[in-house]
Amino acid sequence: MILSGSASQALAAELAAELGEPLASVEYERFPDGELLASAPDVADADPDRAVVVASTVSSDAHLELLQLQDAAREWGASEVVTVLPYMGYARQDDAFEAGHPVSARAVARAISSGTDRVLTVAPHEDAVCDFFEVPAESVDAAGRLADPLPADLADPVFLSPDEGAVDLAETVRDSYGAGELDYFEKTRLSGSEVELSPSDADVAGRDVVVADDIIATGSTMAGAVGILREKGAGRVFVTCVHPMLASNAVTKLSRAGVEAIYATDTIERPVSEVSVASALAEKL
Ligand code: R5P
Repeated sequence: MILSGSASQALAAELAAELGEPLASVEYERFPDGELLASAPDVADADPDRAVVVASTVSSDAHLELLQLQDAAREWGASEVVTVLPYMGYARQDDAFEAGHPVSARAVARAISSGTDRVLTVAPHEDAVCDFFEVPAESVDAAGRLADPLPADLADPVFLSPDEGAVDLAETVRDSYGAGELDYFEKTRLSGSEVELSPSDADVAGRDVVVADDIIATGSTMAGAVGILREKGAGRVFVTCVHPMLASNAVTKLSRAGVEAIYATDTIERPVSEVSVASALAEKL
C-alpha cells in the first residue's frame, strides 16, 4: 500500500503504478487551531502488509503529515513501514554552522526514523545525511534521467555545475546526453539568497550550455550562472536540477537572466517536473 503526503501525490500514484501496489486514499485536514490531520481511512480494512509512505518534506506541514502517515501505518498493523523522501527538507543544514546551532538534518532524520523501518531519499545534498537516520537509509540517484528532456540538437554543448560540489551530477547528465565538455563555476555564498560566481574556463561563445545542480531554491545560483553565460556569448542556456524548489520569485529570476528552459524531476512537484524518479525508486523497493 502506498500512502502519499499531500506534496507528493503525482509521484506516489506513479510509484504505485510502477510497483503494482494499491494507492491509499489519504485525507488531509486542518483543525481550527491550525493542527493537521493526515489520515488513510481505507487502510484499516487492508491486509497488514508493507506500507510505503511517500512524502517530500517541502515544509513543516509536510514533515508533520509524514509523521502522521507513518503512525497511521503502524496503527493499521503494517508489517513494514518504508519511508520515501523524494526531497528531504533540511538536508542542507547538515552541520552546526555556528555555536549554538542545531544539526537540523540530524534532528529531522531522528524524528523520521522513529516511525519507519527503512528510508529512501533521492539525491540529498550530501549522501552522508543518510547516516543521521537511526534505521537503514539509502540515497537514490536519478540524475541520469535529467538528460531526457534536453533537445537532441544541442550545439557543441558545455555541461556546467554552479560549484565544484555538483560537478559529478553535471558529469552524469553529460554522460547520459552522450556528448559535451564538462566544467564548473567557483561559487562563494554571501547570504541565504546571494551568491558570487566566477566563470569557468570553458569558452562558451556560440555554444549551447546546460547548467546542472541538485536543487534550485531561491534561484540565485542558477540565475547568476545564466547571466554570466549570456555575457560570455553562450547560445541557448538550459538549467536542470533534481529538486525544483523554485521558492518565491526563482522562476522570474531565471527568466530575466535569459534561461531557455528549466527541467527537473518530480521529487518536488512543479510545472517543470518533466522527469519522474518513480522508476529509480521502484527499483529500490
Ligand atoms: C548548494 O550547494 C546547492 O547545490 C545549490 O547550488 C543551492 O542550494 C541553490 O540555492 P539557490 O537556488 O538558493 O541559489
